[in-house]
Amino acid sequence: MADAPVYDTAFHDPYGRWSAKWDLARANGEPDALALNIADLEFSTPEVVKVALRKAVEDGRYSYTELFPDFYEAARNWQQQHHDWTPEADLAVFFPRIILAVAALAKYELGEGAKVVTYTPAYEPIVEVLEANGCEMEYLPLEPGEGDVYPLDFETLEAALRDADAFLLTNPHNPTGKVFNQAELEGIARVVANCPQVLVLCDDIHADFVWDQNRYQPLAKVAPELFVAGRIIQFQSPGKTFSLAGAEAAVAFTGNAQIKARLEQIKRASGIHNPNYFAIPAAIAAWTQGSPWLAHIKALIRNNLEQGAEVLNAVPGVHTYVPQGTFLQWVHVPGYETEADFQKLSRAAGIRFSNGLGFGDHPGYLRLNAAISPEVYLPAIERLAEVLKDQGQTK
Ligand SMILES: Cc1ncc(COP(=O)(O)O)c(C=O)c1O
Repeated sequence: MADAPVYDTAFHDPYGRWSAKWDLARANGEPDALALNIADLEFSTPEVVKVALRKAVEDGRYSYTELFPDFYEAARNWQQQHHDWTPEADLAVFFPRIILAVAALAKYELGEGAKVVTYTPAYEPIVEVLEANGCEMEYLPLEPGEGDVYPLDFETLEAALRDADAFLLTNPHNPTGKVFNQAELEGIARVVANCPQVLVLCDDIHADFVWDQNRYQPLAKVAPELFVAGRIIQFQSPGKTFSLAGAEAAVAFTGNAQIKARLEQIKRASGIHNPNYFAIPAAIAAWTQGSPWLAHIKALIRNNLEQGAEVLNAVPGVHTYVPQGTFLQWVHVPGYETEADFQKLSRAAGIRFSNGLGFGDHPGYLRLNAAISPEVYLPAIERLAEVLKDQGQTK
């Protein structure tokens, strides 16, 4: 039998890579700390991706690029194999990043004054982009119910969507980790069908990280008639899944040729139609050969989430859970309300995290990124728990 592959999952010196997570903090004069904030992986991309990238580097002609069926077929096949969904490769549209696709849609399709509905807490950078392009947001609260699930209220959703132009659905949801189940997706589809002017933007960038009995499904799979009618755009990306966020490859799936043509048009209008030279070989290698590596790192992350939850839940007043999906741990830390409170916690624990104020004003919450070697994550969580205990006693 062939030896099992050895994957490099160790944590390496993270500085000196123009990193938004590490180098920027240092450049801003923040004390060095373990950064468990920005949601990208602290694992080295699979060797198969490095091989493809080395080949690209070695060539040395980093020329203008174009898209060919191999990219779209790899994107479609990944969906088919991992999510039991087969969108048409011919109708898919490359975008460098999901945020750029949303920005282009906001600017050229939705327009000034468009009303966009989404759940809160929310991944703020995309909301910021919508607002900066003139959209007006309406937020629906996602509140924890029994057993760490976040139940939906379809009446409130329908009331909000009745006069809306777009609905931004993040599935799995960042930061709560909620994975929308079949019944919920069917409920959303019913509401969307009743509000025929609404375009649904599905940001499913976390789709490859779903745990236990939970099952991710794209809304488009549950509501194929809405997808074919052009009412749903499904965004997917290998960026988080394969530690490729900075390589910039994402894809927008539609089931409608007119929407595809419109997406191509707004991409050109935004001047982002030529992919970065490294994006395409990286994405194709990841999607076609990266599955075994992904299974390996997922096991580590799942373990981090579970052990992290155990340690944090032992702190009086603190509560978290193994999320249904994502590599993110959303932690209730009552009493931490202000930036100053969070900073005090962060400094004492030597850990950077994303605090709840950055997700649309959710004091008392923080988000940890568990996609890092367990040898680093677990001691860090122990440290955080100790500080939470100590500060809890002096609060
Ligand atoms: C929910 C969600 N959407 C989108 C993004 C960013 O994706 P992209 O780099 O493709 O714009 C992130 C990154 O953290 C995210 O968490």
